[in-house]
Amino acid sequence: MITRPTILVVAPTHYDVSYSINPWMDPQAWARDPRGMHRHAMQAFDALREALDASGFAVEVAPGAPGLPDMVFPANAAVVLDGKAVLARFRYPQRQGEETPFAAIFASLQARGLIDSVTTLPEGCYQEGAGDCIWDASRGHFWAGFGPRSSREAADAMSRHFGREVVALELATAHSYHLDVCFCPLAGGELLYYPPAFSASALREIHARVPASLRIEATEDDLRHFSVNAVNLDDQVVMTRTTPHLRTEFARRGYRLREVDLSPFMLSGGGAYCMTLRLDRDSAAGLATRNAAAGRAA
Ligand code: ARG
Repeated sequence: MITRPTILVVAPTHYDVSYSINPWMDPQAWARDPRGMHRHAMQAFDALREALDASGFAVEVAPGAPGLPDMVFPANAAVVLDGKAVLARFRYPQRQGEETPFAAIFASLQARGLIDSVTTLPEGCYQEGAGDCIWDASRGHFWAGFGPRSSREAADAMSRHFGREVVALELATAHSYHLDVCFCPLAGGELLYYPPAFSASALREIHARVPASLRIEATEDDLRHFSVNAVNLDDQVVMTRTTPHLRTEFARRGYRLREVDLSPFMLSGGGAYCMTLRLDRDSAAGLATRNAAAGRAA
């Protein structure tokens, strides 16, 4: 298993917005200037890579494939913890074709020693990767979104596979179709989230586990900017061009923001987190903090 913070991205060579499977996707806007949009997407991807690199990540770039534009969102490809990868099962036919090329990408990551094992979920449930199954290092468990894309049962399958608690959260709106669009745990224990995205019982779960002082409530404007969909490493945060509200909140809590214009990808319903997948998540990292917190609470 690798220990250096390592993050997977997929080159946008074959990226476009040609269908619509979430309410943010706008194929018509793309079709008005496909060449210009594509050029802009390539630039935006380069800027994202630079921001990730500057934040301390080793960046692994995998190739996309023709006819599979949403491969640029590898957050949906797998869930990875402690060197173990569980490959996704996509709900929509438009994305199901990604399963084979992503399996090949993971096989080659395994051959290079970046991943120890690769498995698939049992049939009969959908699970869209780290977009719907987010590791919370300060609490030592996963949070799993279900409803629009991933199935409720996928949360239990993940828990069995990784031997870790998985807290399932029901997503209540089409706009928050993946958990990562509306939910982002941060290294200091804070949680950035958009409350209207969740069912009443999901909100109760969140409130029971995250004290009010650590909850950062995103506004609708923050959501529209895809800023909840952020990549965080220690005090470094990479996100889309954001709002004055979040700039202030993050600065106040000691985080350093790197904002990237990801508008060509927002047209598909994605931001910075969607475009990445951490390969080095280690369940023991954050343990010292967790134990210290438990000691304080006792
Ligand atoms: N167009 C893609 C879809 O609808 C966007 C995926 C964004 N990824 C994410 N993890 N939220 O599936």
